[in-house]
Amino acid sequence: MKPQVVFALGRPGAGKGTQCSSITEHYNYTHLSAGDLLRKERTRADSEFSQTINECFKRGKFVPVEITITLLKRAMEETMKNDENKFRFLIDGFPPDEENLHGWTQVMDGKADVRFVLFFDCSDEVSISRCLERGKSSGRDDDNKKSLEKRIQAYLQSTRPVIKRYHKEGKVRTVDASRSVTEVFADVKSVFDREG
Ligand code: ADP
Ligand code: C5P
Ligand code: MG
Repeated sequence: MKPQVVFALGRPGAGKGTQCSSITEHYNYTHLSAGDLLRKERTRADSEFSQTINECFKRGKFVPVEITITLLKRAMEETMKNDENKFRFLIDGFPPDEENLHGWTQVMDGKADVRFVLFFDCSDEVSISRCLERGKSSGRDDDNKKSLEKRIQAYLQSTRPVIKRYHKEGKVRTVDASRSVTEVFADVKSVFDREG
């Protein structure tokens, strides 16, 4: 079965991770967070990518597309090898810019279907306050004010054009992410009930 993919995009702290884990409890999707996969690879002792990933994280830059796609492809293949019925994926935080989108198209065109993009919409203020709150316990060195400014700039400059591009194709499903977790999930649920 060809992988069926839903991309989840939105500002840092919009609630992509939170909502994606709820989706996996109700629908037959596997959640892959590009950021989490990169963070895991970054700490793997014999990783050839860890130094590059570390530098990108420090500067609030996106990791080169070849690395992220290698990790995503590996995770999808492993999931499907273990269970052939697990061919639906929620890919969170991807594609973060047009270079990554181009890389995805080059590598995955014809090999996976992008069904739609779930866009978690919230303001800079919500993004900052949620990430600073998360920073109290996440142990993430980028959940601080200085890194967040860079990450929000990167989102505005690079990720928004990707969302706009998918929007033109009629593939964006927007959810108001500034409300409570339960309210946001009610909207997310109606998208998945409609789209399958
Ligand atoms: P993202 O993956 O988009 O960066 P997370 O799912 O990690 O966002 O959520 C960021 C922080 O905000 C976490 O601490 C999470 O518990 C909290 N959070 C997520 N959704 C909501 C919400 N709807 N309202 C309030 N806090 C939320
Ligand atoms: O999505 P998340 O907030 O977990 O991303 C954290 C960091 O991971 C980003 O600031 C960026 O450095 C990196 N990242 C990336 N490419 C992605 C997603 C995240 O380089 N597709
Ligand atoms: Mg996340």
